[in-house]
Amino acid sequence: MARFVGRNHELGLLWSRFQSAIRGQGQVVGVAGEAGIGKSRLLYEFHQSLKGERVTYLEGHCLSYGSPIPYLPVLDIVRAGCGITEADSHEAITETVHA
Ligand SMILES: Nc1ncnc2c1ncn2[C@@H]1O[C@H](COP(=O)(O)OP(=O)(O)O)[C@@H](O)[C@H]1O
Ligand SMILES: [Mg+2]
Repeated sequence: MARFVGRNHELGLLWSRFQSAIRGQGQVVGVAGEAGIGKSRLLYEFHQSLKGERVTYLEGHCLSYGSPIPYLPVLDIVRAGCGITEADSHEAITETVHA
């Protein structure tokens, strides 16, 4: 990866929203822009900057063909949070989520 440059304003904004979140005010931030402008990299750098913080970082992804699948990115987050993998049986998943 090329050395990360600029985006201080955007990182600062994410950091300030993060500070509000850990004070108990949940936040939603939209990051929008043309393909290749640096959205994923910004989130990658933000994630790196959280190392050492006592927070749980979970990621959920959308897919270009995923709109008919309800809650798709939320499912990713629940799976990651519960440690559920593709290989788990329905019974094991139910048990894990209940636990
Ligand atoms: N601020 C930056 N400094 C250096 N490289 C960057 C920066 N932002 C993006 N890049 C690089 O540009 C390319 C495209 O960025 P990416 O985050 O994948 O774009 P997007 O998610 O918006 O489509 C990647 O190789 C990424 O590492
Ligand atoms: Mg991207």
